[in-house]
Amino acid sequence: MEVLIEKKKVTDVACDVLIAGLFEEELSASLKEIGEKTDNIVSFVNKDFKGELKSRRSFPTNGKIPAKVVLMVGLGKKAEATLETLRNAAALALKAARDIYTGRIIVSALHDVDLPNYSVDERAQVTVEGFVLGEYRFDKYKTVDIDKQKIVDKLIVLNASDVAVNKGKVISGSTCLARDLINEPASNLTPEQLANEAKKLEKFGVKVTVFDKKEIEKLGLHALLAVNRGSVNEPRFVIMEYDGGGKKKVALVGKGITFDSGGLDIKNADGMLTMKCDMGGAAAIIATINCIAKLRLPVHVVGVFASTENMPGENAYKPGDVISSYLGKTIEIGNTDAEGRVVLSDALAYTEKKLKPDCIIDLATLTGACSIALGRVCAGVMGTSSDAISKLKESGLATNERVWEFPFYKEYHEMVKSDIADVYNMGKYAREAGTIMGGCFLAAFVEKTPWVHMDIANVDWDESPTDYNVKGGTGFGVRLLTHFLENLN
Ligand code: BES
Ligand code: ZN
Ligand code: ZN
Repeated sequence: MEVLIEKKKVTDVACDVLIAGLFEEELSASLKEIGEKTDNIVSFVNKDFKGELKSRRSFPTNGKIPAKVVLMVGLGKKAEATLETLRNAAALALKAARDIYTGRIIVSALHDVDLPNYSVDERAQVTVEGFVLGEYRFDKYKTVDIDKQKIVDKLIVLNASDVAVNKGKVISGSTCLARDLINEPASNLTPEQLANEAKKLEKFGVKVTVFDKKEIEKLGLHALLAVNRGSVNEPRFVIMEYDGGGKKKVALVGKGITFDSGGLDIKNADGMLTMKCDMGGAAAIIATINCIAKLRLPVHVVGVFASTENMPGENAYKPGDVISSYLGKTIEIGNTDAEGRVVLSDALAYTEKKLKPDCIIDLATLTGACSIALGRVCAGVMGTSSDAISKLKESGLATNERVWEFPFYKEYHEMVKSDIADVYNMGKYAREAGTIMGGCFLAAFVEKTPWVHMDIANVDWDESPTDYNVKGGTGFGVRLLTHFLENLN
């Protein structure tokens, strides 16, 4: 779908579907203008269509204005509306337009509503996000699909600024990139392929370094190598650097397990089914760097991910093993399915020692326990930088990719000590405080740099579609991190 801007009166623009919003019993300026020319709309709205949240109604204009059809989208009560309301409405409108009218041109005046707390640029940006996210489908493997014929060729955003529309386009396009990476079957997206995806950022001026297995051995990433031992596919360690000239250097570190079978502590069939999603942290980081490089944000960011499969092959690491790590600390393996923290421990320690950032944020699909604690509503965060955590909370509210902070008391940190090695990759009390145990384990590998751990296991994947997410990878983190980086200085 091409996204363009046109500067025209809403009653002068030619298209197949013209989209406009209304709050409950309050017409937007666009709808009033349309109403004057088409004379039926105002009475229609008052009698039959109240603008309730998520309601939609379309009517033909019978040639009275150049748009063939007007699609009205209900935005609910004005006092309750936020940018997220517009994002959702845009996605719903896109789906309605696609379902009814195939292969056509749509024009959006959806941002032209009276939402006093938000600028017109913000409103235009989030509607573009909603349209692009709502349009997303992962259908590359379908050879016969009637839905493939339902396409919108062109979205024209009426009277919006280039900056706002471009920002919406780049942010949502990057989110779709993360979704594509997550949705790709694990047999087609091995660590080597994932590293190749990172390499593609070079065309936007990002410096990308990929270490293969031999080089990883030389670097001494022993924990990553231990997790890789049960797998036929070799690991990769990837560093992406984008320097747009910020004062502070921020490191984003991702979990890049391209498939998590659980290893010898193998998962059951239900638990394993979606485990191609276990590189969602790495995907969010690749996509965020794609986004900030395209937007040319004035920030200095290094993205790092360690990638391997977690498989139970004959040479696999075993429960009870003690393994070494890049930092030199020894790790006792209580469960081979807690592999993410093991792999991340090397990525975090290497990042701190070699890349020397001012702040580290890691994103990881780390624990099933995170969805027990928080459902699918917000990601979990914890760490040593209260400043970064409060900024992430603010960015979360602004972008609706929200985070919730877990406690990180010293008593919790005691629980990841091992009897026979330095750290244990399980909590002392089995699955109690599972998400915090993951964070405490990681904390042992970041010595002094302000650091935040984000557990995205509960928000990285949706089992059923929402307004602008489909079943599958969500691309969570791109909007959040982009906003965070934008507001850093
Ligand atoms: N990749 C999983 C966590 C996960 C679960 C992500 C569900 C997305 C959806 C992780 O490696 C894992 O298996 N964690 C274990 C930890 C346990 C063994 C301490 C878990 O959550 O059960
Ligand atoms: Zn696991
Ligand atoms: Zn995992």
